[in-house]
Amino acid sequence: MKIINTAVVGSGFMGAAHIEALRRIGGVNIKAIVSDDIPAAKSIAEKYSIAEVYSDYKKVMEDKEIDAIHNCTPNYLHFEINKAAAEAGKHIISEKPLTTNAADSQVLTDLVKKNKLVNAINFNYRFYPLIQHAKRIIEKGELGEIYMVHGHYLQDWLFYKTDYNWRLEPEISGASRAVADIGSHWCDMIQFITGMKIKKVFADIFTIHNTRLKPKQAVETFKGKEIDTSFDSDEVKINTEDGGNIIFQFENGRRGVFTVSQVSAGRKNSFEFGIDGSKKAIKWNQEEPNQLWLGYREKANEILIKDPSLLDPEASRFAHYPGGHPEGYPDGPKNLFMQVYELIRSGKDPQNEKKVFADFEDGLYENKIIEAIIKSSTEERWIEIN
Ligand SMILES: NC(=O)c1ccc[n+]([C@@H]2O[C@H](COP(=O)([O-])OP(=O)(O)OC[C@H]3O[C@@H](n4cnc5c(N)ncnc54)[C@H](O)[C@@H]3O)[C@@H](O)[C@H]2O)c1
Repeated sequence: MKIINTAVVGSGFMGAAHIEALRRIGGVNIKAIVSDDIPAAKSIAEKYSIAEVYSDYKKVMEDKEIDAIHNCTPNYLHFEINKAAAEAGKHIISEKPLTTNAADSQVLTDLVKKNKLVNAINFNYRFYPLIQHAKRIIEKGELGEIYMVHGHYLQDWLFYKTDYNWRLEPEISGASRAVADIGSHWCDMIQFITGMKIKKVFADIFTIHNTRLKPKQAVETFKGKEIDTSFDSDEVKINTEDGGNIIFQFENGRRGVFTVSQVSAGRKNSFEFGIDGSKKAIKWNQEEPNQLWLGYREKANEILIKDPSLLDPEASRFAHYPGGHPEGYPDGPKNLFMQVYELIRSGKDPQNEKKVFADFEDGLYENKIIEAIIKSSTEERWIEIN
């Protein structure tokens, strides 16, 4: 197998998650890690035997031996780093959202197409085996006609006024928070599984904590579960949403609804959707990812437990362990990266290939959905996505 040299930019929650997943797929050498937090980067480099540690991502762009980069930095850096990588001819696996706005994402989408680069966004939730199975059974018509979809993405890590992270600052995270951060996953998932695009939205977004206590020192993402009053803090104004309720229409006029919130106590990462069809319905929740609920009118409902021998053959390749052996969050990026690096290794022009992973075109459309949701809520009307 040809070894592909790659670099990971960012040494936080996702930087570490990408590295761990890359170490499990084989055929990839992580040649460099880049971070503005050098002690963290050095510690990761030592743990995973990564040769180079840089504080400036431009070093990676200059290294001709590096074929691909993983961009795991805060959102405002996605455009700049992805653009530099595309100009340097590197394949890109970017964290979501692709950038903080559709105009910048359009520039990147055009650039990666022009330079024939493999481009992917880490919409990792697509890669649970039962999600791939659900997609296949919908494609085969087992649900019949889709009547409606519904669901939520709820978290509690920003529940308290004292919870703070860079995601609360629009200049770092973008104009939308809960919708862009977790609503984007929900929209990607529902469009991926159904094969239908969200075309119109009507949204009502809300902010519970109009001010928050910003610690004078940085706090790691998802770190604290208890109120930590040991930090000195400043009371700062919050300009982004804690959550929202969104109704929408697909291209074919069928309807859906979902709720996002980062202030729902007890909901750690409750990402759930239901799809109601004319023959049966399905429901899935990320916190129990090895179970797919199947609902019927005429007989008892069923729960399909992840088991490669019971999945559609197209889906079973994403299950690496037998039935009864749960697969979870870290396996999503692993499955995604396997697809991405297979395509890189093939040397094929990604534009001509059918891809299971989200690419920059999908990321651009996500930006358009997010912008439409914010606009709809502000103007209190339906907004169409073009
Ligand atoms: N797909 C998912 O499930 C998922 C989950 C969490 C986060 N994310 C995305 O991942 C990205 C990173 O989020 P996170 O939670 O890992 O944040 P984080 O704060 O834990 O990590 C960000 C990292 O970027 C580094 N960094 C900051 N400026 C830099 C620079 N100029 N050059 C190099 N490195 C720099 C920081 O030192 C830190 O290591 C975000 O875009 C977020 O939306 C995706």
